[in-house]
Amino acid sequence: MDKFIIKGGRRLSGEVEISGAKNAAVAIIPAVILSDEPCILENVPQIRDVSISMKILYEMGADITMLGKHTVKIDASGITEPIVPYEMAKHMRASYYFLGTLLGKFKRARVSMPGGCYLGDRPIDQHLKAFSALGANCTNDHGMIDIQADSLIGNQIYFDCVTVGATINAMLAAVKATGLTVIENAAKEPHVVDLANFLNSMGADIMGAGTDVIKIRGVKRLRGTTYAIIPDQIEAGTYMVAAAATRGDVLIKNVIPKHLESITAKLEKIGVSVEEFDDSVHVTVDGPLVKTNIKTMPHPGFPTDMQPQISTLLCLAEGTSIVTEDIFNNRFRYVDELRRMGADISVDGKVAVIEGVGKLMGAPVTAPDLRAGAALVVAGLAAHGITEIEDIYHIERGYENIEEKLRGLGADIIKKSVPGSAVRKVAL
Ligand code: EPU
Repeated sequence: MDKFIIKGGRRLSGEVEISGAKNAAVAIIPAVILSDEPCILENVPQIRDVSISMKILYEMGADITMLGKHTVKIDASGITEPIVPYEMAKHMRASYYFLGTLLGKFKRARVSMPGGCYLGDRPIDQHLKAFSALGANCTNDHGMIDIQADSLIGNQIYFDCVTVGATINAMLAAVKATGLTVIENAAKEPHVVDLANFLNSMGADIMGAGTDVIKIRGVKRLRGTTYAIIPDQIEAGTYMVAAAATRGDVLIKNVIPKHLESITAKLEKIGVSVEEFDDSVHVTVDGPLVKTNIKTMPHPGFPTDMQPQISTLLCLAEGTSIVTEDIFNNRFRYVDELRRMGADISVDGKVAVIEGVGKLMGAPVTAPDLRAGAALVVAGLAAHGITEIEDIYHIERGYENIEEKLRGLGADIIKKSVPGSAVRKVAL
């Protein structure tokens, strides 16, 4: 298994460029199927989840040409069978976006159930509710979700909880339905808006993305487009936290500062200085880091995908912080690993109480999932001594060249490849 070896204690300084957003890319790549013409995607991050999405498209019959390191041309007109079997779908939870896009295009989709669950319960009942509202019949056939509709007719869809995945799937399925679909209690995350902008650039008629009511007037066909994916809010937030944890001085480039507001606000409470520019943020620390309380919420609240990283920072702050995880019920799996590095954290259900310890010490640890892995990288950078992180394939699902980017900021981090290592099943 590949691992990261980090010699901690170096102050990060310099500039880092943020890549395209993972959670936008994994929605937009399958959405290309809805167009009858080739699409060109720019600012595509080079991460494992993107490779998996493109491999699924390729295996289904799409023509894929890399036009540059982050630019890809996809012609999905060769796809004729709306089926994503288990072997293809199992590596990535976001493969469920093929349900919405295949249903939207073919009125039929057969996609393997999302695989094992690492953050707690992650049902897809709201996705199925949306498909049913549009007139589809959904069944679970031996682990495959089978969805069929004679025709898709626009309807009112009210979500019982705020869900990114179901909001995106509802948009994908409704964009070519007949008539008006109104999604209420919709998710407002930047990647929801990015997908809507992408679909509109293909000729869709979607209004209200970014608010909790999205209106979609179905169109007959979608054309090809050239579209640049937004920068990754969570990658940017992770570098902001890494800069703060090492008391560094880092300019984080290619970001949309508005998307970072909830992260910036909490960092400022902790004592970190964040200066905003048009498309970059400058992070420095002058005084002490101090406790704060955090509760994760749907956008524009504090993102659950930043909870492990900021909790790691709070271990280095003075005082007692309380972190409440309100989205997923099993997102504290990194806590045992951080304890091995000297952290003082107790968890009771969805609440973690973090006693600041001032410093962490290097230790061998294992990344339990993507963001938890990123948190361990932050911990390793700030810790005294050497941290070895195993199972880094989780981290590589969502962070492009993290070790190179960190080395560019002065970190002492190397990736040690162990020959014959296998990629395990992952599903976030
Ligand atoms: N939920 C339901 N029923 C559903 C769908 C969701 O009860 O049908 C619940 C979930 O159990 C959860 C809550 O609603 O408690 C929110 O889940 P959501 O659907 O918003 O999450 P997701 O679509 O599965 C996406 C991101 C996650 C991110 C969450 C929350 C992608 C591919 N994944 O997941 O990203 O944590 O939204 O913002 O966009 C990550 O990048 O590390 C990651 C896990």
